[in-house]
Amino acid sequence: MKTENTVWHEQHISKEQRASLKSQKPCLLWYTGLSGSGKSTVANAVDALLFKLGCHSYLLDGDNVRHGLNGDLGFTDEDRIENIRRISEVSKLFLDAGLIVSTAFISPFTEDRTRARSKLEDGEFIEVYIDTPISVCEQRDPKGLYKKARAGEIKDFTGIDSTYDVPENPEIHVKTAELSIQKCAEQIVNHLVERGFITIDKSASENFSHLE
Ligand code: ADX
Repeated sequence: MKTENTVWHEQHISKEQRASLKSQKPCLLWYTGLSGSGKSTVANAVDALLFKLGCHSYLLDGDNVRHGLNGDLGFTDEDRIENIRRISEVSKLFLDAGLIVSTAFISPFTEDRTRARSKLEDGEFIEVYIDTPISVCEQRDPKGLYKKARAGEIKDFTGIDSTYDVPENPEIHVKTAELSIQKCAEQIVNHLVERGFITIDKSASENFSHLE
């Protein structure tokens, strides 16, 4: 627990210096959406595209982080709130390291997403709503979890017996049922280019046909 004896220690190398070495502006792509909506798939495609373009990025994915750092958390409201709190703190550290960070978590509650946004500098938090109708997610059911939830074998399942607050004003609205994964990824990378978080040089743009 933090006490009055815990004092912040300034580091010699600033976030700006780290970012400038990487020739990019750090930001957080905060993916939110139902289970099976395609958050991880799209976030992975964006991460791969950024890598090809020579950007320095890192992806924190719900299913993976729940195996390690957040392995002690379940799916009650309380645990989901703690899950998101830890992820937003870790993301903030990664941003401080000068990276472009992606997080792919259901993050069902508006209040938690707003809190994560408020921890960062203005403009750094980019909410990416992976908007896939629950009927499509349920049809995809990549892990068979909807089937189990409908059968009552999983409790507190998002969209069935646990709430999902639809983002009201996301910076990026992605409709995976209407676009290919590649197009979704390009939509997001374009947003980063337009807002000056990354720049694409000529040789790298071969990897990104859309911008040619
Ligand atoms: S969050 O709500 O706390 O943000 P998170 O993204 O970390 O959730 O984890 C969601 C993943 O855990 C889902 O993609 C699914 O694979 C799995 N899962 C297991 N139980 C549940 C549940 N009750 N509700 C939603 N997802 C669940």
